[in-house]
Amino acid sequence: MQHDPALAKHVLLGLSAAQKALSSAWFYDDEGSRLFQRIMALPEYYLTRVEHQLLRDRADELARWIDPQRKPLDLIDLGSGDGEKTLSLCRSLHDRDVDCVYRPMDVSQHALAALSQRFEQHLPRLALEPLLGDYFEHWPLVRSERRQVAMLLGSNLGNLDEPRAVALLRSLHARLREGDMLLLGLDLAKDPRTVLAAYNDKQGVTAAFNLNLLRRLNRELGMDFDLARFSHYASYCPLEHVARSFLVSETEQAVSSRVLERTFTFNAGEAIYTEQSQKYTPEMIRELAAASGFALNSLITDDRRWYALAVLHWVA
Ligand SMILES: C[S@@+](CC[C@H](N)C(=O)[O-])C[C@H]1O[C@@H](n2cnc3c(N)ncnc32)[C@H](O)[C@@H]1O
Repeated sequence: MQHDPALAKHVLLGLSAAQKALSSAWFYDDEGSRLFQRIMALPEYYLTRVEHQLLRDRADELARWIDPQRKPLDLIDLGSGDGEKTLSLCRSLHDRDVDCVYRPMDVSQHALAALSQRFEQHLPRLALEPLLGDYFEHWPLVRSERRQVAMLLGSNLGNLDEPRAVALLRSLHARLREGDMLLLGLDLAKDPRTVLAAYNDKQGVTAAFNLNLLRRLNRELGMDFDLARFSHYASYCPLEHVARSFLVSETEQAVSSRVLERTFTFNAGEAIYTEQSQKYTPEMIRELAAASGFALNSLITDDRRWYALAVLHWVA
């Protein structure tokens, strides 16, 4: 059976640990990307709507931040998804006659195909250079003289704990240089009930998204997870401002993998930790930027202060 060795290694380590854990980075197979598109349209999932609205309403202001000198630039969208939200920003840059190459990068072929279709339809004259890949390992660009503006939207950074978030931002800092910028889309700390509902929707789409990870492991690693014997569980801790998702084993059970040649046992009620979603205060964002070699220039928020677009400048 053909399989991704990185996934095999990750699952072997993750399911052998005392606290079983799998990374949310593996959620996005084609079905996972489709389910995430449905999550983004859910009434409870405010994140996409608020960020999208900010990107639409404040596109000109952002374009001014991004391009104060109207120099040619590469816009590098890390974990771009289907590009629905970035379209208005790209349109704004395009309308300002900025010489801009849009470089979306994603691990999901499905997401990049949807993005390419969208941009060909709505912004056919924009230079588009999609790249299928992992932003922890690759950079979608050979060093050029053009300015680089990197974007990490959709609260992607919040999926990492603080040391890993700082490590990622430092690695981005190492790729950028004087005059370059980083734009982060970050979910802000708010009423815990509002946050929790976003990860525990009534229709059960988030549950299906979480459980789809097990379906992926069945297909790609020859595992025999019975999805009916695991349940989605979400929590939010207002002290740490972190939402966490788990898959809870309904019974005592054993699950095997043909590829890994291993069997993993689960107690009844045992939880696999699958996702963290950090929420931020403005102070946390400022500290994160400083710890990674950036300076926070501007924090663009909606009226309720639910979500922020953080404009970070590279500091030597
Ligand atoms: C939460 S979605 C956000 C999508 C988009 N940026 C938005 O704001 O709508 C996360 C996206 O990042 C991609 N992704 C997650 N981890 C990645 C990684 N390490 N490298 C590249 N893409 C990644 C996923 O495939 C998915 O399309």
